[in-house]
Amino acid sequence: MIVLGIETTCDETAAAVVATGEDGRGVIRAHEVLSQIAEHAAYGGVVPEIAARAHVEVLDRLIARALHEADLTLADLDGIAVAAGPGLIGGVLVGLVTAKTLALVARKPLLAVNHLEAHALTARMTDGVAFPYLLLLASGGHTQLVAVKGVGEYLRLGTTIDDAIGEAFDKVAKLLGLPYPGGPEVERAAESGDPERFSLPRPLLGRPEPNFSLSGLKTALRIEAERIAPLTGQDVADLCASFQAAVVDVVVDRVRVALRTFGTVAGHPTALVAAGGVAANGTLRRALAQLAGEAGLPLVAPPLPLCGDNGAMIAWAGIERLRLGLVDDLMAPARPRWPF
Ligand code: KG4
Ligand code: ZN
Repeated sequence: MIVLGIETTCDETAAAVVATGEDGRGVIRAHEVLSQIAEHAAYGGVVPEIAARAHVEVLDRLIARALHEADLTLADLDGIAVAAGPGLIGGVLVGLVTAKTLALVARKPLLAVNHLEAHALTARMTDGVAFPYLLLLASGGHTQLVAVKGVGEYLRLGTTIDDAIGEAFDKVAKLLGLPYPGGPEVERAAESGDPERFSLPRPLLGRPEPNFSLSGLKTALRIEAERIAPLTGQDVADLCASFQAAVVDVVVDRVRVALRTFGTVAGHPTALVAAGGVAANGTLRRALAQLAGEAGLPLVAPPLPLCGDNGAMIAWAGIERLRLGLVDDLMAPARPRWPF
């Protein structure tokens, strides 16, 4: 099975071709991602209208390049998968209309994929993880702990009651004068910082439901930053390190609680899976690996290029759905909101 995947829900335009491998995993035959970061950087965040226009400008070329890289034509594909949401509606429409057109012209099945589901299933493409598993999905827009029981069978155990984790990283970066997107910048600055210089709160630590709250942590950091302003480079590094340490403590505690809850609702997990852009954070990965080890589980976190938004995860989710006959028609709607 070979599927083309298209991703345009936020600020990456991506197209990829994925095939099923012999061991049930996915083989990435082509992987094209064009980030719009430069276009949005001046605004400190993603501007929806600029994003939609940028997707229009490059998507057709990117798809052509992916097919060329895989040495395939549209006729060779078994399906066209696209992220139909959740995301910025202008961008989602660009991807969806393009995918529908290709599906119609090439007479191929359309697979309208949930972007979050695609993040959730990536670990099956890369590592062949079996159901059920505990997923920590941490991105710029989402923070969720999910029992993944099967394709289309997702039980949300916890979520954030305010900011997403990636959003908190981005806001902290902005506050400290670091460029967008903030996650990688905060991680880099934290490398030369002292994580114990500022004692920041660990919101919801120890609570029995595995939910998150991050806005208080961000506010506490702002108060510290204002107290010691003007900030030196070392101050920024120490603030970043202290913030990152607080986030990691919270995430580890919340995942530990979710692992306990998991047993009562979904049986024994086969793995702890981390996905979404924040899963690229090295300190978080190490802490999660230790936690998983203590629970006797492997930690599966996608390789860095597959943590952030990409077309391969959409193509793979398409393959998973196509295998089960879960095909969509040309009426498939674009969904700005689409819980899973
Ligand atoms: O999954 P993703 O690429 O896009 C969304 O669907 O949101 O995630 C992007 C988010 C951004 O908030 C970014 O700051 C964060 O992931 N991120 C990180 C790191 N790399 C990206 N956060 C912390 N540490 C990182 N190394
Ligand atoms: Zn994402």
